[in-house]
Amino acid sequence: MEKQVIIFDTTLRDGEQALPASLSAREKLQIALMLERLGVDVIEAGFPVSSPGDFTSVQMIAREVKNARVCGLSRALEKDIDACGEALSVAEQFRIHTFIATSDIHVDTKLRKSQDEVVEMAIKAIQHARKYTDDVEFSCEDAGRTHIDYLCRMVEAAISAGASTVNIPDTVGYTIPSEFGGIISSLFDRVPNIDKAVISVHCHNDLGLAVANSLAAVQAGARQVECTVNGIGERAGNCSLEEIVMTLKTREQMLGLQTNIRSQEISKASKLVSQLCNMPVQANKAIVGANAFSHSSGIHQDGVLKGQNTYEIMTPESVGINKNNLNLTSRSGRHVIKHRLGELGYKSDEYDLDEVYTAFLKLADKKGQVFDYDLEALLFFNQQKHEDAYYKLTYLHATSGHNIIPSATVSLELGEKSLTKSATGNGPVDAAFNAIISAIEGHDLDIVDFKLDSKGEGADALAQVSVIVEYNHRRFNGIGLATDIVEAGVKALIFVLNNMHLADQIDQQKQKIVGV
Ligand code: KIV
Ligand code: ZN
Repeated sequence: MEKQVIIFDTTLRDGEQALPASLSAREKLQIALMLERLGVDVIEAGFPVSSPGDFTSVQMIAREVKNARVCGLSRALEKDIDACGEALSVAEQFRIHTFIATSDIHVDTKLRKSQDEVVEMAIKAIQHARKYTDDVEFSCEDAGRTHIDYLCRMVEAAISAGASTVNIPDTVGYTIPSEFGGIISSLFDRVPNIDKAVISVHCHNDLGLAVANSLAAVQAGARQVECTVNGIGERAGNCSLEEIVMTLKTREQMLGLQTNIRSQEISKASKLVSQLCNMPVQANKAIVGANAFSHSSGIHQDGVLKGQNTYEIMTPESVGINKNNLNLTSRSGRHVIKHRLGELGYKSDEYDLDEVYTAFLKLADKKGQVFDYDLEALLFFNQQKHEDAYYKLTYLHATSGHNIIPSATVSLELGEKSLTKSATGNGPVDAAFNAIISAIEGHDLDIVDFKLDSKGEGADALAQVSVIVEYNHRRFNGIGLATDIVEAGVKALIFVLNNMHLADQIDQQKQKIVGV
């Protein structure tokens, strides 16, 4: 049997659909390029029919990604499949993924169709998708709760209709490993044409079993695993890419299976997804949590010093975590920073060294010592900045304290114009936000979320603020970084304003094109 397990990443589809605010097309492309470097075989880039924004970002990813197959999701409907075909046609290699629910509970309650009608819809959808490409994947939604006789019938029909991959999702994360592995074994035993397609699995984590179920399925013969970076996704998330990949790698001798993943890129991919999606990774998360490779108890520390493999089953380096022996301060030169970033896995063409170094010096002056997490945060913000931003912060002064009314004065550049506004609020951040909102009067926006996080340790740590704003029935996300909480908040809001400005410009261009 094939030894290679195909890694199908759905961070940008199942993962992204669960976020409180959508990622911008630029952010999605950044993640897609990271997934390409990571070595995933298939990138599910989105659901093109769901919105014009999704269509555009799938198309952009399809155009840019060269070393992975780009895939789009569609219901078993012609219009969905046509949107996928159109968005993906610019790709070097692409896949159309179409799905329909197969469990009684979904067929009766959601689809309100007979089982025969659902099989017919699936066949028609697959045949329609085959007009665009030979690479068609079909998913039996809620397969985990589907009667095995009907599942066998559906899988056989899908393969006969031309699906080259058939996916068996545990959509609601209900099954347990022996049961899910059993479903896959039954399909191999009972579906006569099963050897004509790759069997894939897609497990949700409602009972914390997504990785275990995927592994059981692979042991039963599945050769594609659908997963997401950091396990993000609907509700409790999806099978975590880093966990399934490192399980297959660490236990390769026992399992005899391989993937194309460059595991040294895992830590970077995890940080990028966590930052852009604003989804912190819990410290004790396997593989990518801050504590995944730290040993606390004296006995463990003593053991690891005597021999790393006493308490470590894989090395931090194998997932791209490199320990730092350099003391980075304002006396460190540019080449030291470049060298350290290289050790952390960042190539010099991924950032502007002059800008990162200037930001590093400013931070080193404020903090004394700069740590890896500071450096990575600076780099991330260097990569996120808006080229030729319309809104720029030129001055900020805020006061707060006990028994005084918090107030703030903010000066902004808005294109060619400069404006200064002052306001009060229930705290200095609120006051600064009120000043900014009065400077951009006429924009009806609502701040729906504000989160403050510290990047690193100690009272001098960098503050990261993320803000979600609702504007014109859409949600925009922004993040800001500074040692000062108010400044970090203001930067986050200005980031959002620049995202809104870009979206307004795109809308105006579209209106011109359609002549509205
Ligand atoms: O969970 C699920 O069933 C899905 C399908 C669309 C594959 O995400
Ligand atoms: Zn799913």
